[in-house]
Amino acid sequence: MTAAAPDPDAAPDSVLSHDGRESFLPDRNLAMELVRVTEAAALAAGRWVGRGDKEAADKAAVDAMRLLLDTVPMDGLVVIGEGEKDEAPMLYNGERIGDGSPPEVDIAVDPLEGTSLCARGEPSALAVIALAERGTMFDPGPCFYMEKIAGGPRIADLLTLDEPLVDVVRKVAERKGSGLGDVTVMMLNRPRHQEAMDAVREAGGAVRLISDGDVSAALFAVREGTHVDLLWGIGGTPEGVLSAAAIKCLGGAILGRLWPRDDEERRVVTEAGYDLDEILDADRLISGSDVFFAATGVTDGDLLQGARYSEGHATTESLVMRSRSGTVRTVQARHDRPKLREIVGERYG
Ligand code: FBP
Repeated sequence: MTAAAPDPDAAPDSVLSHDGRESFLPDRNLAMELVRVTEAAALAAGRWVGRGDKEAADKAAVDAMRLLLDTVPMDGLVVIGEGEKDEAPMLYNGERIGDGSPPEVDIAVDPLEGTSLCARGEPSALAVIALAERGTMFDPGPCFYMEKIAGGPRIADLLTLDEPLVDVVRKVAERKGSGLGDVTVMMLNRPRHQEAMDAVREAGGAVRLISDGDVSAALFAVREGTHVDLLWGIGGTPEGVLSAAAIKCLGGAILGRLWPRDDEERRVVTEAGYDLDEILDADRLISGSDVFFAATGVTDGDLLQGARYSEGHATTESLVMRSRSGTVRTVQARHDRPKLREIVGERYG
């Protein structure tokens, strides 16, 4: 008797775990494919580091990311992309990506997170992507900014946006059993953060300022042993969703609240049905339970090494994660530039 051929449409094998819950055997980890996408974007943007042209750097990253995304078998819908279709020829919100085969997923991309960091040759520019089950990603729509606070698992329950930052810092110090001098908050260097920054410093806490790139900062804050306890401040809403995807994989917590810049934006956002008082936690920003995240360094940073080039090869470093398994991989890659050029031309070889 010959064995029947496996049915490609069959549901994955399930087993009962020791506590009686159904669980599924390991399946395809899309993050392992996504890392090729962020590597390509980082290699392309990396050629523009320090050249003062953030548009060209961003375009190179978008082109490379789009090219590689087409190789991923999936039915993807861009929820967070480069903007509306008429301004963004590629990776626009609503664009369908992949060959249309399962799984159905929502996609958030930031081919170059920290365009100015890249143009100025400053630390921590990244190429980033996140995927989750279809319909589970918060759509930022017209909401440009949100207040954010993020921290690691040990202080997750202390996070709030309803109290002044300095009070949260005090509680974090207490939890750590340390003085305020041992608590560090990372925030974007913006005038809108001046008051909170002054209050933390006057109380004895430390503030580490960054010029851009609060996704990298959020990841840095939630990881153990980084000497940064909190990411706080007003930054991009899309970046908040991407940070939430990473935090669902890494552990820790993020809270967000939409922050319209003026009355007109408040009106537009409210009319679009968004609740300006709602506290958006990681599960609200991404309600899916199978989230994939990949990020590759463009410039050297606290989190990842940037793309580096020599005559014969280039190297990249990436973070590759999945929420369902909780696996966090750091992937170091060596790319053969002459061979890459034969395949993709000058795009990112
Ligand atoms: P870009 O990569 O789009 O330039 O965004 C960089 C960034 O610093 C984000 O990390 C952050 O969320 C946002 O800009 C802050 O916006 P703004 O510069 O307007 O304060």
